[in-house]
Amino acid sequence: MNYTSMMITGGAGFIGSNFLEYLLKDVGLTIPIVVVDLLSYCGNQENIKFAYEYPNVKFIKLDICNKAKMDEIAYFNRVDVIINFAAETHVDRSIWDSTPFLINNVFGTLTMLEVAKMRKVRRFVQISTDEVYGSLSDSEPGFTEEHLIKTNSPYSASKASADNFVQAYHATYGLDTVITRCSNNYGPRQFPEKLIPLLIMNANEGKDIPIYGDGKNVRDWIYVKDHCKGIYKALTDGKSGEIYNFGGECEKRNIDIAKLVLSKMGKNEDLIKYVTDRPGHDWRYAMDITKAKKELDWNPETSFEEGMGKTIDWYLSNKKWCDAVLCDEYKQYYAKQYGAKR
Ligand code: NAD
Ligand code: TYD
Repeated sequence: MNYTSMMITGGAGFIGSNFLEYLLKDVGLTIPIVVVDLLSYCGNQENIKFAYEYPNVKFIKLDICNKAKMDEIAYFNRVDVIINFAAETHVDRSIWDSTPFLINNVFGTLTMLEVAKMRKVRRFVQISTDEVYGSLSDSEPGFTEEHLIKTNSPYSASKASADNFVQAYHATYGLDTVITRCSNNYGPRQFPEKLIPLLIMNANEGKDIPIYGDGKNVRDWIYVKDHCKGIYKALTDGKSGEIYNFGGECEKRNIDIAKLVLSKMGKNEDLIKYVTDRPGHDWRYAMDITKAKKELDWNPETSFEEGMGKTIDWYLSNKKWCDAVLCDEYKQYYAKQYGAKR
């Protein structure tokens, strides 16, 4: 797969910024890269501060739904691959209000597909999620790429709908597309509305650790850098029109993660507070990653022990980032979600 100029949308978010860092520091990519991000509540220009010293990287603050401007940027930067990370990403927020999920995730992806079609890009990579497959019981095998789409939250419904548009553009217009579907990521720069950073930041300040329901729901955890390596492999070696699952082969119950974080941080388990369950809470996610292993020669390399160690260290040594995140919007979010002050 040859390309000479890349666009990364949603690049100032958690996974997008880690992907950019992987490209610059590990792959050593020197082609022009234009990063576009609206800088919504969780997008943060600080997240890509490390890229300022790379002359091949340009940042533009823009909404991917703005077709005319996005097309102009793609045209003037001669973009020939687009990697679309931009999305509203939090299930709990989608339960309060699904409209931004329809707009940013579905209409936003459709807009980027139109730009890709007009500019005849060589490849469009859509970053999707295991959540489109729905929920597993304890005994079912992990999701393969052939598993039925069965969405339960407005978030997963919007991501599945975006995936369907990507596949429609491949079939109808012959656009070269690849969809990646990954399980739960953790690592540096994740916004603390998600479980692991919320646990670490609350534990660090001696605040309650809210656990939904009985805490026995299972997620398949992957260190973000392993996901980024997979996305890069899908971009370079993936087959057009295909879907690739990524996951950490690391299933954990939420309560066990909470206990592990507290013990690693030397905090008392009394901080754990069981709170009202999430409506429609998916019971278990687990990914079958045989296809990515075979066809992309990809494997998750970071153990949970190692990844959690790095993640906790990052939050503890980036106080400025954590303080900046605890802004008024976050405090309002927290009060609404947990009925508690933050
Ligand atoms: P994030 O919320 O940290 O980042 C999303 C970024 O998209 C933010 O920087 C935000 O400002 C930007 N954005 C949102 N709407 C935009 C718009 N209209 N125009 C431009 N930018 C916009 O999320 P993340 O965890 O980094 O997720 C990135 C992608 O990976 C998403 O598509 C998500 O569905 C997918 N994904 C996430 C996980 C996970 O565990 N976090 C797992 C699988 C897939
Ligand atoms: P989350 O990080 O929101 O990711 P997702 O819903 O996309 O899997 O949640 C991970 C799991 O942790 C999920 O089962 C919900 C649970 N959870 C809690 O128990 N307490 C919390 O405060 C949060 C944010 C999540």
